[in-house]
Amino acid sequence: MPKLKVNDIEVEVEDGLTVLQACEKAGAEIPRFCYHEKLSIAGNCRMCLVEMEKIS
Ligand code: FES
Repeated sequence: MPKLKVNDIEVEVEDGLTVLQACEKAGAEIPRFCYHEKLSIAGNCRMCLVEMEKIS
């Protein structure tokens, strides 16, 4: 299971989660417009963009 830090909060998430879902697990609400968990991911509006560091 991947471990990550969101705004200095460490979380361990299940495999296959999106970054947006991982952020929610860490308590960080990411604004979104076109994302809904019951729909396929469109990724059109770019409202949910986040900055990521130290990706390996
Ligand atoms: S909510 Fe992420 S691209 Fe639209």
